[in-house]
Amino acid sequence: MKIVKEQKTFEQVNTELLIVGVQKNCDHINGWKDFVSFYGENVEDWIRTCDIDTDRKKITKIPYTGENKHLKRVLFVGLGDTKTLTENELRETFGIVGKQLRALKVNEFSIWLESFTASPIDEQTIAFLFAEGAGMGFYQTPNYKTTSNEVDVYMDAVHFVTNADIDEIAAAYEVGKIYADSVNEARNLVNLPPNLLTATELGNYAEKLAKQYDFEIEILTKSELEELGMGGILSVNKGSVEEPRLITIKYQATEKWEDVIGLVGKGVTYDTGGYSIKPKTGMVGMKGDMGGAAAVLGAMKIIGEVRPNKNVVAVIGSTDNMISGEAFKPDDVITMYNGKTVEVLNTDAEGRLVLADAVTYAKQQGANYLIDVATLTGGVITALGFDKTGSLTNNEEFFDAFIESSIETGEFVWGMPLTEKDKKRIRKSDVADLNNSPGSDGHMIFGGGFVGEFVENTPWIHLDIAGTSGASSAHDLGPKGATGVMVRTLATFVERLGEQNK
Ligand code: BES
Ligand code: ZN
Ligand code: ZN
Repeated sequence: MKIVKEQKTFEQVNTELLIVGVQKNCDHINGWKDFVSFYGENVEDWIRTCDIDTDRKKITKIPYTGENKHLKRVLFVGLGDTKTLTENELRETFGIVGKQLRALKVNEFSIWLESFTASPIDEQTIAFLFAEGAGMGFYQTPNYKTTSNEVDVYMDAVHFVTNADIDEIAAAYEVGKIYADSVNEARNLVNLPPNLLTATELGNYAEKLAKQYDFEIEILTKSELEELGMGGILSVNKGSVEEPRLITIKYQATEKWEDVIGLVGKGVTYDTGGYSIKPKTGMVGMKGDMGGAAAVLGAMKIIGEVRPNKNVVAVIGSTDNMISGEAFKPDDVITMYNGKTVEVLNTDAEGRLVLADAVTYAKQQGANYLIDVATLTGGVITALGFDKTGSLTNNEEFFDAFIESSIETGEFVWGMPLTEKDKKRIRKSDVADLNNSPGSDGHMIFGGGFVGEFVENTPWIHLDIAGTSGASSAHDLGPKGATGVMVRTLATFVERLGEQNK
């Protein structure tokens, strides 16, 4: 992506496309009169007659036939009443612009930043939100059609019409682009078919990422997990011909390896349910059961680029959950990595077993706070739907700080209660310390609560993204399929923690 660091006036625009925001009261925009005299008076008539739609998220494409010989058309982007415009709505609006850019096969374009200003959203924020929103909207799910005649298009170069400091604008745009690219890379991982994305392949991807950003990495194989006695991940893996992996990535920002945040992801590359097998309709889509792992890896990519002042350890437990003569069964009693025993009541409640061992390992690797991310339960969908991530915590202060980052990114997170009664039910078993499926009532809480048993006193947030990590239809910020949810919130949170360390 080329960011053209030249301050341009309308007359100097040298791309075929110019993007302009139109608000309910365009007169208030700094430079609007200049634009009208450049483009022609009729722009104001068209706004009056609604031929240019100023309603929020409405886009009008109009040819340009004036003096500037490069410019062919203007994309007018409706913003509505900017007094009520939020950053997230602007990001989503830019998502729609990104889709238009792909549809128009536009590689190079100009954007007039001031036309999008809305108090208190300044030019820098606009540049960031544009790169992020349009970059996500631009995403297309890869396919394997042999008949595909799609031409590859990229948002290749951006030029700015602005009075603001061009270096600051370019820097903000660059970060927004990193955020979008990382989300899109996480989406690619989740969208990969499960025959292509095995635990081994997920490990290979992590290794490439580590090389690219100079992270320390360790990938434990099946025999190494056996030596360590990681009964959670190994039990889930028993029915599979594919090897499991425990992937650990360290990003060290400070001289001493202390004050470390642990990001733990569920990387189940396919969840058949095991012997507690899923019905055929419930199984389709379970290639996305590594969405938590993808969120962690996506966040690590941003961290690798932005290099915040915060130590991070990422731990991903990866396997598929299959059936064979060797698979684990309901009624099995297994011993976890931390020595606790678990009565398996449901082999489809496998994610919590994988996460529990990963969380124990993250603590051993020095994590002082933990966030786990997982497509853990259908229960969270029943409770909160497809647009809210459900969460649990054992530390309100830690949670409140995290929520601020989620508000910043527009990724909705909602806290659910985890009570002593819930914990009692997780600890209820005649034969073991814990059971992995206390019941189907409010079971999002049992899923996360089980992981909490292994976190113990470390400040912890559990994020259940079963509803939010995939979209059943296209939305403003992307197409149907993987959303890359939590990549941006995790990275933003780590960035904010890093700022406190300065
Ligand atoms: N991977 C699923 C959760 C899931 C459901 C993810 C829907 C995405 C969409 C998880 O492993 C699972 O099967 N959970 C069970 C738990 C139950 C058996 C206690 C569930 O939620 O039904
Ligand atoms: Zn399952
Ligand atoms: Zn699962």
